[in-house]
Amino acid sequence: MAKVTLEKVSKFYGNVEAVKKINLDIKDKEFLVLVGPSGCGKSSTLRMIAGLEEIDEGKINIGKKTVNELEPRERNVSMVFQNYALYPHMTVEENLGFSLKIAGMKKKDIDSRVAEAAGILDIEEFLHRKPAQLSGGQRQRVAMGRAIVRRPDVFLFDEPLSNLDAKLRNQMRTEIKRLHQKVETTIVYVTHDQVEAMTLADRIVIMKDGIIEQIGTPLDLFETPATKFVATFIGSPSMNMISSIVETDQGKKIMKTADGISVPVPVSKKDVVKDGQKISFGFRAEDIVPLKFGNKPSQSWDYKSKVNLSEPLGTETLIFTNFGKIEIVSRMFTPELVRAGDELDFSLNLDRTYLFDDETGKAI
Ligand SMILES: Nc1ncnc2c1ncn2[C@@H]1O[C@H](COP(=O)(O)OP(=O)(O)O)[C@@H](O)[C@H]1O
Ligand SMILES: [Mg+2]
Repeated sequence: MAKVTLEKVSKFYGNVEAVKKINLDIKDKEFLVLVGPSGCGKSSTLRMIAGLEEIDEGKINIGKKTVNELEPRERNVSMVFQNYALYPHMTVEENLGFSLKIAGMKKKDIDSRVAEAAGILDIEEFLHRKPAQLSGGQRQRVAMGRAIVRRPDVFLFDEPLSNLDAKLRNQMRTEIKRLHQKVETTIVYVTHDQVEAMTLADRIVIMKDGIIEQIGTPLDLFETPATKFVATFIGSPSMNMISSIVETDQGKKIMKTADGISVPVPVSKKDVVKDGQKISFGFRAEDIVPLKFGNKPSQSWDYKSKVNLSEPLGTETLIFTNFGKIEIVSRMFTPELVRAGDELDFSLNLDRTYLFDDETGKAI
């Protein structure tokens, strides 16, 4: 059991600073997910914790120990990769016990650890098979089993589900969450997939270009994104985002879009925006709904638009319409047939509209 702390940690590849002085406190037993687009520095960060990459600046502690100078095997961490290479000529049981055997552990102890891991992962019946006789999901479980038998202080996962098909990915996601509940070990998990991050994490760290954009619980990030980037990265479908300029029209603050549409500035924000300020306003699909199909919000702005496309998904329907020249998406929970070409009145919930300064990208 261990907490992990990163203090001003940087990683350089030549002149390129891939990770830029990041600070991070990972709590004991926490499930922490590092998420962000490809190339933002997630794997580099994880590999520095694992000891697979040198730490160029700053300090990493695991438990009470500073691990900068420790070899990977001295850090008591276990890593599970996307490409989990099992030894093809060994049985599952031998694969599971191999690292313990190398470390010189007695057979009796190895057997008991392997049995425990196999129990946790529900792979007892495959113990005598070779990897080739297993499905993708079963192999992935063996790969996790190899990490479990070592009883590490910290599990490190780097996109472990990326190679699996969608259905299996969902299944394994649930299993990883269950695994965490059973073993109660600190987990640092890297993914580019915001759904994985939202469903697995106690806390999420969103990275972009080597820096941390925001840290928070899944709900924190969803409800109060600190930046425009976080707002559009978290949530599906992605938050609608429209750029505009603040103006005063007949004493009222409005946001004027490039297409000349004027939307009132939400009441809570009218004193913190200035005329001429370039801002983007964002709203989620569920906060712009056809008038007939929802409660009218207390502070709303209505507009009319033609449906470009509708996607009925069962309990909800996504409706794509134009907001000026920009296509936006709205979500309707009442299952009602809406066709392309239908003209609908929409109501935008201004209380749930997010404002961002275009210069800084920060929430207003
Ligand atoms: N071994 C390397 N040599 C040079 N550049 C690298 C190396 N590994 C990663 N990078 C660069 O560092 C940045 C961060 O990479 P990485 O940590 O792998 O990102 P992520 O895991 O978020 O996709 C990227 O721009 C990548 O091209
Ligand atoms: Mg990576």
